Order: sequence, then structure tokens, then C-alpha cells
Amino acid sequence: MLDRIHSIATELAPRLIEIRRHLHAHPELSGKEYQTSTYIAGVLSAAGLHAEEAVGKTGVVAELPGAGTDDRLLAIRTDMDALPISENTRLPFSSKHQGVMHACGHDVHTTVGLGTAMILAQLGVEIPGKTRFIFQPAEEIAQGAAWMVADGAMKEVDSIFSLHVFPSIPAGSIGIRYGALTAAADDLEITIIGEAGHGARPHEAIDAIWIAAQVVTGLQQAISRTQNPLRPIVLTIGTISGGRAHNIIADRVEMSGTVRSLHPETHQLLPAWIEQIVTDICRTYGAKCQVNYRRGVPSVQNDIALTQILESSARAAWGNDKIQILPEPSLGAEDFSVYLQHAPGAMFRLGVGVADAKNYPLHHPQFMVDESAIITGVVTMAYTAYQYWHQS
Ligand code: NI
Repeated sequence: MLDRIHSIATELAPRLIEIRRHLHAHPELSGKEYQTSTYIAGVLSAAGLHAEEAVGKTGVVAELPGAGTDDRLLAIRTDMDALPISENTRLPFSSKHQGVMHACGHDVHTTVGLGTAMILAQLGVEIPGKTRFIFQPAEEIAQGAAWMVADGAMKEVDSIFSLHVFPSIPAGSIGIRYGALTAAADDLEITIIGEAGHGARPHEAIDAIWIAAQVVTGLQQAISRTQNPLRPIVLTIGTISGGRAHNIIADRVEMSGTVRSLHPETHQLLPAWIEQIVTDICRTYGAKCQVNYRRGVPSVQNDIALTQILESSARAAWGNDKIQILPEPSLGAEDFSVYLQHAPGAMFRLGVGVADAKNYPLHHPQFMVDESAIITGVVTMAYTAYQYWHQS
């Protein structure tokens, strides 16, 4: 079967490159993937799949029935939005949309999703159960997955696979990680309300700036002295503002920040724990405070059994020296985790690094991929899907 998947993928390669270049030249921002979704639906229809558009606002869902001998439903999710970045790669198929660029490789993800659908469509009844392809909008604003789920994309799904490109892994290689892959990312806003006064008479005022300083350092110290250091938390206060003049004690300070964590239990405890610390510090010095903690997407936790299927499929397809077991997770965020609240899943990192060239990071105006990685991605995903049905 692996040989057959390899040979179908090789036949499809020129078409897949063409699809990827079309998507790359016509990027659309999060929630505005109108042309992209119409194009995806067209490619899916041509491959014999019925595509449903406008799922999760601008998303697309298509399903292959399989033989009907296994009742499980497998989902394969790819994201399709671009970023507000002006492309500077000088590629002949550079973005035609001013100020918008596929700088996170979602054009490659979409192409891998489409290529996998084309291969599994050709395998037909050799796939025992249903496979659902989810083309998700608005990943960059961490909302698209929730829109897709709200519109029923995860209904009856038993397991889900996905991928993300990775420029620091060379094209042809695959990164695999068990457990935590990305972090939970939350937003924090704190307002401290003191009492204004003369800069020379602190005893008649409540100094919101000094109390804010206690809060900023107090939070960092509390993380290092009260939380399990093996369950990391990164808290960054990114903005702070308050005060009107050098000799007036400030009555109000506003701060905002981001909070990253890997452990699901830590993610659960963070809102109440942070509010408690801030409130206690403020109360000690007579200030009032408002803490607005918004929980964002959770951490992506790759399921062990599904990651094993991914790993063994990738090893069989490409050989052991092309498989990297990633030693560390990323503290970046990825809304694939939203699907994982409904079914177990696993995401792999697809190497797209260009040999002997400077590889710019994701979200960079000069970000580029080695397009040969598309076939690596398609074969890995298609064979993983095949093995899902036949191994588990
Ligand atoms: Ni991305």
C-alpha cells in the first residue's frame, strides 16, 4: 500500500505544486478566506468529493465514505488563512494581494489536505471507514477551530490528525512529538486603582505605580516559588501605563500581558491563582484592582497512541534518519487544541527548510518553503490515515 500511495503522490505532484502556488499567490486574511474556500471546494469536487462550503463562516468540510466496514470517523484538519505581512520573497508566484502573505505555510497545509483527499479518494473502498477533511479558516486569530466545532465539524469524529510546517527542520524530514506540542496562550489585563496625592506626601495617597511594581515582581516570584518548575509558566507583562506628572502620585495603572503554559492542570488553575495574587498585593496596600483574565486556546497535547501511528507511518515512508523526535514543545499557540477537546488527535511538524539557504522563521516576510515537502506531507498524512484504519 505504501508503494501505491508513493506512486499516486508522485503522479499528483505537479498538480499539487500548481495548487500550492495558486494559494500562495492569492492569500486571504483570517475570516475572509472567500476565494480560498471556493477554490478548495472546486479542487475537492474535481476529485469526486462533495464539499460543503461556509462551515465555520469561511471553512470547508468534505467527507469520503470508505467501505463502511468500520464505524469510526477520522478527521484530517488543515488551516488556510494568511497573515497581514507584505511578502518579500521575489518568488514568481508571490502574493498578488498587497499586504497579505502566506507566511505561516497554511498554503502548504491546505495543499497537503487536498492531496491527502485525492489519494484517499483513489483508494476508495480500501479505506474501511469515513474520513472527514476539515479546511479551517482564521487559525492566526485563534478562532477558526472554535467556529468549525460550533458548526458541527467534530460531530462523531473519533480521531483527528493535522500538521504544521517547520522551517528549522529540513524538507524531507518530519518532526514527531508525544504529549505537549504547543502552549496554552491566555490574555491578562490588570487595572490598579489607588488614590492620587502630592509626590511629597505618600502617606496621604495610595501609589498605584508602586503597587503595580509589586504586582509585576510578585507574579514572577510567585511563579518561581509556588509553582512546579517542571510545569512551566511564562507570564509577560507587555504594556503598562499610568501617572500624569512627575510630582503627582498616580491613582491608576493599567497593564496587559500574555500567559503561556503547557500543563492542562496549570492552565485550569491560572485565572483564579493570578487574580488572588494581584488582589492580595493590592489589598495589602489599600488599592483596588480589576483582573480580566481571558483564557485562550489550550495546549496541543498529542495523543500517545495516535502519535505512535504517525511515527511508525512516517518511519516506514521515509526511513529512520528522516524522523526527528522533538525534545521540546513550543510556547507558541495553535488552535488545533480546540478540536482535541472533542476527540484525541496528533499533529506533526513538516520540515520545509531549504537546503544550503537561510531559512527565515514563520511569520517573516521572506519565509519560504522547499516545495518538495508537499509530497512528504501528503504521503505521511495519507499513509498515517491508512494505518489508522489498519493498525488500531
Ligand atoms: Ni500557522
